[in-house]
Amino acid sequence: MSTINETRPADALRSGDRQADERASATKPLGGIAGWMDDRLGGAKGVSFLAKKVFPDHWSFMLGEIAMYSMIVCLLTGAFLTFWFVPSASQVVYDGSYVPLQGVTMSDAYRSTLGISFDIRGGLLIRQIHHWAALIFVVSVFVHMARVFFTGAFRKPREINWVFGTILSLLACIEGFAGYSLPDDLLSGTGIRAMNGFIQSAPVIGSYLSYFIFGGAFPGEAIIPRLYSAHVLLIPAILVGLFTAHILLVFLHKHTQFPGPGRTNKNVVGYPLLPVYIAKAGGFFFIVFGVIALISAVVTINPIWAYGPYDPSPITAGSQPDWYMGFADGALRLLPGFLEFETFGFTWSMNIFPGSLVLLPLMWTIIGVYPFVEAWVTGDKREHHLLDRPRNAPTRTAIGIAGISMYVVLFLAAGNDLMAIKLHLSINDITQTLRVLFFVAPPIAFWITKRICLSLQRADRQKVLHGRETGTIWRHADGRFEEIHAPLTPDERWVLVQHEAHEPLELTAGKDANGVDSPIAGKERLRAKFSNFYFRDRVAPATPSELEAAHHEHDDHAAVPDGGHEAIEPAGASQERETIKADKQHG
Ligand code: HEM
Repeated sequence: MSTINETRPADALRSGDRQADERASATKPLGGIAGWMDDRLGGAKGVSFLAKKVFPDHWSFMLGEIAMYSMIVCLLTGAFLTFWFVPSASQVVYDGSYVPLQGVTMSDAYRSTLGISFDIRGGLLIRQIHHWAALIFVVSVFVHMARVFFTGAFRKPREINWVFGTILSLLACIEGFAGYSLPDDLLSGTGIRAMNGFIQSAPVIGSYLSYFIFGGAFPGEAIIPRLYSAHVLLIPAILVGLFTAHILLVFLHKHTQFPGPGRTNKNVVGYPLLPVYIAKAGGFFFIVFGVIALISAVVTINPIWAYGPYDPSPITAGSQPDWYMGFADGALRLLPGFLEFETFGFTWSMNIFPGSLVLLPLMWTIIGVYPFVEAWVTGDKREHHLLDRPRNAPTRTAIGIAGISMYVVLFLAAGNDLMAIKLHLSINDITQTLRVLFFVAPPIAFWITKRICLSLQRADRQKVLHGRETGTIWRHADGRFEEIHAPLTPDERWVLVQHEAHEPLELTAGKDANGVDSPIAGKERLRAKFSNFYFRDRVAPATPSELEAAHHEHDDHAAVPDGGHEAIEPAGASQERETIKADKQHG
């Protein structure tokens, strides 16, 4: 029989152990609770790690949060809607409280959505919040993506997080499409009909794919329940899972920060997660929720009762999908009919297929691989935790704007019929113009953006070398007029000189000893071409010697009050500060 109190040799090792003070933990309730939890779950280490985690502060970092919070609002309101929504296409006669549709035969899905809107207390508001949150979610995801792109926050080590984000943005669009297709009203039914057309346009397998997805001929009764499972289970699960990985990577990589005083590639200047950031984030969640609820309370969205239940016959012009599907709809409207042809008894719907089933994957693939392409072109293998100012990466910024201009043209094309009606213009003229713009607008946008970036960089250089224009004109004794330039503070100047001006890569791998092209010559030549495209036009930041020279050039400024300048050293911030300090000492 064994007794607990038997002393064992090993006990001697614990002679220095301190007994936990029962009374003490009982007295500090909060600490006590935390202590109690830690004793059992051991979370203290994790909490202290989080508490010490520092988050840089900048308004543009809130865009990802808006995406996160609107996604949470979608999940919460969506869960509410599942209590009443009936995902069925079976036909019923409506007998709810919305009089104009009483006695009309419709699908159970449409009937239950009417029920949520008119018979469930708060149902309409929740439906509105859910739809508006979805629209704001997708907008904020794209604006967040643009922020990350134009500041170069996708560079090493964040390439994978960029890819996760890219997939998240595509899923957000598909989730939205699946969601607004559920009520089975005339407009969403048209969307599903169009989707069926897209699927059928796939060469050879189109009709089989359509039968597989719709469970038979269109519309059938399977598509609504299938979209429902995708919308309330499959896609949200992937979204939340991928988003969690996304945020964990943000923690792992630490958040990037904009260049500024004391900020380097090795540190993060900002607020600790606990308590500051969490408090700010919590407050911001309720602001986002509040704004969405306010919009939802005053602006009607998706009034399905006005559209009526889905019926393929009464289709009209002016039926557009939700905004984030506009570009794909626009691409379809711009593709000319003559692209369709027949061979081997098969119809090749090249007037539909590229705009529907090719455009989306192609566009998202290009977005997803961009960080890897830029890294290959620049040959830059370093980690980047300091963000770029878009002007300092002119080619990347121009590529981004060119891409956005192409997207905008497609988006506008989705409203070609509305523009024709509202502006009393010919729909063919509008379509032709947009077809031309699709090819012409991006290169023009690229060129203008690049020129603007380069001139902004030049203006920065001028500002560093000559100070900020004050608009005050000084008249010298000899009658000359001069504008007074106010010197920049070292911090302001640092931001304008801290970036690198990449040089185009030199072509390395040429010919081997026998003058024969080395195997990788072709790839290297291509890379050198891209690198030249990226970095041929550039403006190098002002160097300390250039400022010194500008300083002496302004010797006569001595006569102008506040016109003095300071020397700089575009090395690490501290070095810069040292230099400035040194100058101050020498007066
Ligand atoms: C469901 C959609 C998304 C949500 C909820 C989300 C949320 C967030 C949040 C909260 C942050 C940290 C704060 C910030 O920098 O804004 C973040 C960072 C980041 N996100 Fe997203 N994001 C989403 C989609 C995307 C997309 C589409 C991309 C790019 C294609 C992307 C790329 C990144 C990157 C690279 C970071 C790190 C940024 C940095 O450290 O500066 N995210 N995301």
